[in-house]
Amino acid sequence: MSKEVRVVANWKMHKTIPQAIDFIKKLPELKTTLSIAVPYTMIHACAKFPEKQPLLCIGAQNMHYEIDGPYTGEVSSKQILDAGAEFVLLGHSERRHFFNETNEFVNKKVRQALLNNLVVILCIGETLTEREQGKTIDILEEQLLKGLNEVDPNLLGKVMIAYEPVWAIGTGEAATPQMAQEAHFNLRKIMTDKWGEKISDQMYLLHGGSIKPENIEELTSQQDIDGVLVGGASLTSETFNEIIQKAGSIKK
Ligand code: PGA
Repeated sequence: MSKEVRVVANWKMHKTIPQAIDFIKKLPELKTTLSIAVPYTMIHACAKFPEKQPLLCIGAQNMHYEIDGPYTGEVSSKQILDAGAEFVLLGHSERRHFFNETNEFVNKKVRQALLNNLVVILCIGETLTEREQGKTIDILEEQLLKGLNEVDPNLLGKVMIAYEPVWAIGTGEAATPQMAQEAHFNLRKIMTDKWGEKISDQMYLLHGGSIKPENIEELTSQQDIDGVLVGGASLTSETFNEIIQKAGSIKK
């Protein structure tokens, strides 16, 4: 099945509202969907910006699994939707490692987000130690299946998986295209075994970890890599616009 190459940006804890608006104004004319996961504080300003291009989707980088309640400092799916978010990143490795998020905790959020009609980008990835111990595929399978536990297969069309090796995030050392394709191929197989070929083919498998203009073409040309999740290289207009242009020129 042919898919457009998806580009998703993760701004993490960067930028102010004026900087975000300036960045959005400088985007090239979009020919395919572009998603940017912004800090909570700028969801509304970016999503409701009058000149926002229709193919630009704004999303959040996290949310709580309850819809409301006494959770000081937390933000719910209802609130991010209200602010204008169309999607949410869940289970990012920084959430797993700095905030001790478990697969079970991430799964609660996934199910709540889908109930509220948000697109979910579920992030998974192995650490360097796990890779060195030969556990990569087991870890990915566990994060994938536990993260999507009890999700109605009819809702999987609203889920994208982002495979980001933890050792490649923010290090400048991306996985080689062969290494990345091998993991994506195995993930696709796990998805096919679990949900069948039709659903597995339709689901987007994004790749992340040190994506830059220099490696995007080779990575997204791989059969099972349907797009990219970009952190550091999504922060400056010049670099990111180059990534968008290159992604747009890839025919799959
Ligand atoms: P990076 O981050 O592109 O800076 O490696 C990717 C991510 O954390 O999603």
